Amino acid sequence: MTQVLWDILWTNVHLATFQEGKGPYGAIRDGALAVHQGKIVWMGRQSDAPRGPVQKCKDIRDGKGGWLLPGFIDCHTHLVFAGDRADEFEWRLQGKSYEEIAAKGGGIVSTVLKTRAAGEDELFDASLPRLRAMMVEGVSTVEIKSGYGLSTECELKMLRVARALQEHTGVRVATTFLGAHAVPPEYAGRSSDYIDTVCKEMLPAAAAEGLVDAVDGFCENLAFTPDEIARVFEAAKNLGLPVKLHADQLSDSGGGALAGRYGALSADHLEYASQNSVEALAAAGSVAVLLPGAYYFLRQKRAPPIAALRRAGAPMAVASDCNPGSAPFTSLLLMLNMACTLFGLTPEEALTGVTRQAARALGLSQRKGTLEIGKDADLNLWRIDHPRQLCYGVWDATPAWASIREGG
Ligand code: NIG
Ligand code: FE
Repeated sequence: MTQVLWDILWTNVHLATFQEGKGPYGAIRDGALAVHQGKIVWMGRQSDAPRGPVQKCKDIRDGKGGWLLPGFIDCHTHLVFAGDRADEFEWRLQGKSYEEIAAKGGGIVSTVLKTRAAGEDELFDASLPRLRAMMVEGVSTVEIKSGYGLSTECELKMLRVARALQEHTGVRVATTFLGAHAVPPEYAGRSSDYIDTVCKEMLPAAAAEGLVDAVDGFCENLAFTPDEIARVFEAAKNLGLPVKLHADQLSDSGGGALAGRYGALSADHLEYASQNSVEALAAAGSVAVLLPGAYYFLRQKRAPPIAALRRAGAPMAVASDCNPGSAPFTSLLLMLNMACTLFGLTPEEALTGVTRQAARALGLSQRKGTLEIGKDADLNLWRIDHPRQLCYGVWDATPAWASIREGG
């Protein structure tokens, strides 16, 4: 696919391609990378660049010895919401648990009430700064879930805001319908009836408007049972939509196994995942999305079974889980650090988790997640000496660290 015409040629750069099987970080030192019509059309050692296209290229850029990486992908966020839950943070510090607060009508439902009350513009204005904060750190693709509406009208409002954020910022937004996030107050004690509404009204309405790229659920004691989630997954299947799941975050509820059974794109959290769940995920090729921010913020004691996931060969991604209740964070760089310090990932695993594996968790591997000929020229140039620095700590991650997106 070597093109004769190149729009842009990056020179004097090291490439961290994150291509599978290409050695640590998929690194190519002293590299160059050519872009044509928004796609990567050539990359390799600079000394190997073919002369003809180089001579004809009118836009040759000097990367000054920096590293080019794929744009980061935050593959699990709830970044569209109104208000905050700082009050609950204080209560938890005084000893109340996340589950207790949820059982008393706080938790997810308290954000639902605020999100329902917000107009679409207000919700957009509340969410935009969070996305901007992510962009500063090199995020160019973000997944955004609904799930703070829990009515047809408000779930659609959230998903429209998510789409509008893509229009406004150019960040690629993957939308996920999370109607099965909590039982809304008007269905209290009738979770099965609520799941009916999710399957028969809410999801079809959202899908009909083209607002749903994937379908998620919260499988947990304080949310929905595996049987209830299975009904949502069947409805998704009938609409031809891929599924993913909040699984085994606070207890082993068999969520990982359920996700594996449905060939989910991903199963997320997994602190309490059993060996059975780990094997089901690995067999299905579902990505284990690790969310160290929520683990840290809820002061959980049990980390996800990283060694078992590795042994089983399950792909692992890392995401922010940005939400007002369990992870009020927008920094994917901080999540990279936490994935290493709290969960024991290697820096290479963590970075692969916000690039190649995160793309896979969103079903976007054809276009995103690695530097590879034919993929989108969706790149960040980082002024670092080595990619591991991105997990260690970065003190001048300003927008001046040119984010380069040539289309797509
Ligand atoms: O990923 N686990 C369920 N959902 C979120 C929390 C949402 C909230 O507390 O508002 C999570 O941790
Ligand atoms: Fe979440």
